[in-house]
Amino acid sequence: MDKYAVFGNPIKHSKSPAIHTQFAGQFNSVIEYRAILAELPEFEATVTTFFAEGGLGANVTLPFKERAYQLAGQLTERARLAGAVNTLMPQPDGSLLGDNTDGAGLVADLLRHTASLSGTSILLIGAGGAARGCVYPLLQAGAASVVIANRTAEKAQQLAQLFSDYGNVQGVALNEVPVQSYDLVINSTSSSVTGQVPDIDPQHVSTCTLAYDMFYSDQQTAFLAWVATHNAAAQCVDGMGMLVGQAAEAFALWRGQTPEVAPVLNAMKEGSL
Ligand code: ATR
Repeated sequence: MDKYAVFGNPIKHSKSPAIHTQFAGQFNSVIEYRAILAELPEFEATVTTFFAEGGLGANVTLPFKERAYQLAGQLTERARLAGAVNTLMPQPDGSLLGDNTDGAGLVADLLRHTASLSGTSILLIGAGGAARGCVYPLLQAGAASVVIANRTAEKAQQLAQLFSDYGNVQGVALNEVPVQSYDLVINSTSSSVTGQVPDIDPQHVSTCTLAYDMFYSDQQTAFLAWVATHNAAAQCVDGMGMLVGQAAEAFALWRGQTPEVAPVLNAMKEGSL
């Protein structure tokens, strides 16, 4: 049976095995997809053993995405720019190709809720790994401008600098966000994990048509609840679709078949996955 896995620490609650099993079922295929706990010092050895034993593809999640980037012998452009790898695939020459499908998963989910990103002005809150992975895909999808706002301003500025060749990107502190009409506001910070909201002036979310939180949970995230109180017209979308979307991109890379996201996402929302 074709063997795949996701590596992380912790990994117990990963939805990836269920998602990929569903994807395979869409093509009447049966795959083996395991969630593998990698001990912190042993990530590289664990992944190398998996591929030596015939693994056809792997996902990598926290806290190993930067180490997967180092481990990969070849990188896609989007992984190189993300500085992180969430998808590995062995190559005929024995090396590992590293890709990053997180940003594409985000863009695909955004496009399920809005017709186009072409010409949009985007406010991206946060400047950590999650933000870095999506700047290039957002620009590639046609964003006219991306303002990166972060609690630590220098990190936002550094990130903007990294992508300055690829489009109109600016990095600012949370309290220095330029006053303009943002079409789309994306929260990439980890603040929703603890039920907090980035300390940002509500005027910046008052005109957006879509607010997106990369985090998701059973309830509405703190960030989306906050947006809703300041902008009743905004569509508020959490990151569950991004999770399924990045998985679909990885599946397509490994197997050359593009699965349908919607049925799997619906099953997850219903709690049956
Ligand atoms: P990830 O890889 O998930 O992006 P990370 O690299 O640790 O995680 O980055 C976390 C991001 O969330 C950072 O942008 C962080 O801001 P700082 O760079 O100033 O630390 C942001 N963040 C976390 N908690 C926050 C909070 N309560 N308010 C605002 N920003 C927060």
